This record gives sequence, C-alpha cells and structure tokens, in this order.
Amino acid sequence: MLIETSEKRLIIDPFLTGNPSAPVSAEELPKIDYVLVTHGHGDHIGDTVEIAKKHGSTVISTAEICTYLEGKHELSVHPMHIGGSFKFDFGKLKLTPAFHGSSVYEDGEIIYGGMPAGFLVESEEKKVYHAGDTGLTVEMGLLEYENIDVAFLPIGGNYVMDIDDALRAASFIAPKKIVPIHYNTWPVIDADIDEFKSKCEEMGIEYQIMNPGDWLDL
Ligand code: NI
Repeated sequence: MLIETSEKRLIIDPFLTGNPSAPVSAEELPKIDYVLVTHGHGDHIGDTVEIAKKHGSTVISTAEICTYLEGKHELSVHPMHIGGSFKFDFGKLKLTPAFHGSSVYEDGEIIYGGMPAGFLVESEEKKVYHAGDTGLTVEMGLLEYENIDVAFLPIGGNYVMDIDDALRAASFIAPKKIVPIHYNTWPVIDADIDEFKSKCEEMGIEYQIMNPGDWLDL
C-alpha cells in the first residue's frame, strides 16, 4: 500500500514481484522515502530490499525485522516496537499489535522475526490504520480513542480475520470508514465481497472497496 503525504511517500509491505494482483512492478514505483514492514513473511517483506536500495529509503519495522534487514541486506532502518510511536518528517507513526507470525523464511531456515505489527499513520490531521495480517484482538478496542479516518482491515480468513471478525474489529475501532484488504489473492483467502458489503450496510459501517492500483483521497 502506497501512502502519499504532501512531501513524502511511504509504502507498506511492498509485495509486488510475484504478486498476481500487483498493479505496478517495483521498478515502476516513484521515489519512496520510507518502506514500512508489518512482519517478516515473504508476501510482506516482498521487494523491500530492492526498493530501499534503489531509492535510499529508510525501512521502519520491529526491532527484529530491522536487525535482519540491516545486518543481512545493509539497509537503513528505524527499528520500533509494538505500542511505540515516533514523530517522523511525514507525521507520527505508532506500531499496533497484530495476532500473527513474523518469521523470515530463507534458505530453508526460519529466522525469528519478533512480533508482527500493524501501523497507525497520522499525517496532516488524518489518521490511517493498517492492521497488517492479524486476527481479531481486544487491543483493537484501544484504537477507538484515536479517531481513525480509515481502517484497512483483513477479511480473507484462514491466516487473518474473516468478514465477521473484521466487522467486529470495525465496531471496536469505530473509524469513519473501513477498507477490506487481504482477500482473494490466493484461493484459501477467498472472501465474498457482496456478503461484506451487505453486512456493512446492515451494521451501518461506512466502507470502500478498493482494487489494486486505486487511490483514496483523504
Ligand atoms: Ni503473514
């Protein structure tokens, strides 16, 4: 996911090469200032190394993932941890808890990746929550105090929340709008988007369906 503020460009979990839904290739990306990585899985670290090297981007992630990316790939990193926040030149970023794994799988080995995260990005008086890969957590209830404009929530099930849990998350978080993510890329995370829409409408939850390559103005 690409976020543009008036001055900076951030990309979250840039899985482009090998992603059947990728709208652009890594080479086609405009200048990226920061790469944010929620967790160590290959479909999230994705093209982080290539992008960060090409653009001289700073990678922001958990301390473990940053240690791996800095040590193994010599990237410039800004390590953080769950619950921590920091004011960057694009705005304020807080790492939120996610229920998931975070290991890096490389050369037949699993490398410990610490805890997986979500991101709360606050810039130019707008707040966006990207849940990352996660199941439903009670901690999401704390986000109600953040007055979030848009929450990006996984709905694909199996590895992450399904539609019903995502809607429970939406009622905890009470954002102005939700955007469903992490579904229909692979068969095991198929989600019925019509079911999602009708349940949102029943519950009075504002939503927006985004297709790969779409932009959302805030
Ligand atoms: Ni994952």
